Amino acid sequence: MSVPAAVAAQRERPIGVFDSGVGGLTVLRALRARLPAEAFIYLGDTARVPYGTRSPRSITRYSLQATQLLVDRGIKCLVVACNTASAIALDVLRQHFAPLPVIGVIEPGARAGCRASRSGHIAVIGTESTIRGGAYHEAIVRLKPAARVAARACPLFVALAEEGWTDGDIVRAVARAYLVPLFPSGALDRPDTLVLGCTHFPVLAGALRAVLEPDIRIVDSAGTTADALAGLLQERSLGRNLHMAAGPTVEFLSTDERERFARVGTVFIGEPLGADQIEVVDLASSSGADAPR
Ligand code: DGL
Repeated sequence: MSVPAAVAAQRERPIGVFDSGVGGLTVLRALRARLPAEAFIYLGDTARVPYGTRSPRSITRYSLQATQLLVDRGIKCLVVACNTASAIALDVLRQHFAPLPVIGVIEPGARAGCRASRSGHIAVIGTESTIRGGAYHEAIVRLKPAARVAARACPLFVALAEEGWTDGDIVRAVARAYLVPLFPSGALDRPDTLVLGCTHFPVLAGALRAVLEPDIRIVDSAGTTADALAGLLQERSLGRNLHMAAGPTVEFLSTDERERFARVGTVFIGEPLGADQIEVVDLASSSGADAPR
């Protein structure tokens, strides 16, 4: 039986992916690997990164504006590839843009942590806003009610990753200062799993691994977010038809200069990114509604 033309057209539309900056490219990389026939539009709000130190009101307003721009570009669903925006604004985005399907990264990150942990004692690191809001704690306990969660904000990691400093003495010294209190050496009941609750942190994984004891598992939300997206596309019959698809494409949108996006983004996406591949957009002029008071 043939699929009605409107449904077929809907399936061909791109998937929107949004982050405060280039960190979400670590998630985009996993999404593309899992769903190679899909087209993606990635928006990095590089003019306003970091979101992690801002108020919930600002984070919500920025997230509404970013999503509106992607909706105006015809996306069929949205992945909020930013832990801070997922922690603060996911429910508002779902309500405001219903029936657009919206997936965040907190629940998938919590799922990855629960799967990896044998003891149920899980440490989470993220930005100030993500940790302060307790979204990871809630998501982990929802999945594993007996879990214990230790959490710590590590804002300097964002700056180091943005600077392209992914390893070295300084990165390891900062990592030690943040992580040793979470994983006291010799303590019998220390966490056995570290969840990287920030899209910028996977590029620092080598340095984090070097300062942690080898039995501690390090996980992030990229793979489980890709699983959640694949499940959603399947459930809603929204996946591209491999035979019909015009070819996998990705568009990159940035709210600040393309050169920096390309240079820093190359580290996060793990392949060369040219400045000519990036379109600069202005979110202030997008029709995104103001944050609710
Ligand atoms: N993308 C943010 C997150 O995952 C990190 C950078 C920021 O603070 O905006 O939380």
